[in-house]
Amino acid sequence: MKDWTGNNKAIYTCLGASNHALEERQKEDYYATDPKAAELLLEVEPDLDNIWECACGEGHLAKVFDKAGKLKRATDLIDRGYGNIEDFLLNKELYNNGDIVTNPPYKYAKEFVEKALELIEEGRKVCMFLKLTFLEGKARKELFKKYPPKVVYVCSGRIPCAKNGDFDKYPSSAVAYAWFVWEKGYKGDTVIKWIN
Ligand SMILES: C[S@@+](CC[C@H](N)C(=O)[O-])C[C@H]1O[C@@H](n2cnc3c(N)ncnc32)[C@H](O)[C@@H]1O
Repeated sequence: MKDWTGNNKAIYTCLGASNHALEERQKEDYYATDPKAAELLLEVEPDLDNIWECACGEGHLAKVFDKAGKLKRATDLIDRGYGNIEDFLLNKELYNNGDIVTNPPYKYAKEFVEKALELIEEGRKVCMFLKLTFLEGKARKELFKKYPPKVVYVCSGRIPCAKNGDFDKYPSSAVAYAWFVWEKGYKGDTVIKWIN
């Protein structure tokens, strides 16, 4: 029996949350990340080097890595005026001597993790900025069994990700994010840490 007569908007209004999730998703899942996320990552993972930002958008993360002297390559499926054009999921060339870091298109996040781990060398890292809810789900449980992340850094303070890079329109975030860090070959337990 129906016990709720409101609509989705009413639910979100009740919760006091913004309803980004109810808006139409950007076609290629373009949500630019506040560069602060990249600064936080470099603080906790200072050994990252020769970074490939493989879904770089307009370079919000990549520019921070570049400034730190750690960026080797920046690519995206779409030309957004930064980096080279390339479909990451079609890539077959091994990526030697470097780490892969991005906020991927969320609908292909699992595929991005698998592809990135396939391309890098043992001991190298894959860092993905993902919704905290990436931890749940049956298919992802299998992914985590096969490839346990070494550390999940939960962002205690919200980090905005702006649709189409429009931070004026979307200055805050209703979504909790974390940096998921894999080290290729790691088979131990996953450690959870809290940042910011
Ligand atoms: C969530 S946005 C993040 C952009 C950037 N990493 C950042 O953090 O600001 C995801 C990006 O992935 C790109 N993308 C989608 N599918 C892709 C693919 N198959 N290969 C490479 N980039 C892709 C989109 O064009 C979009 O720019």
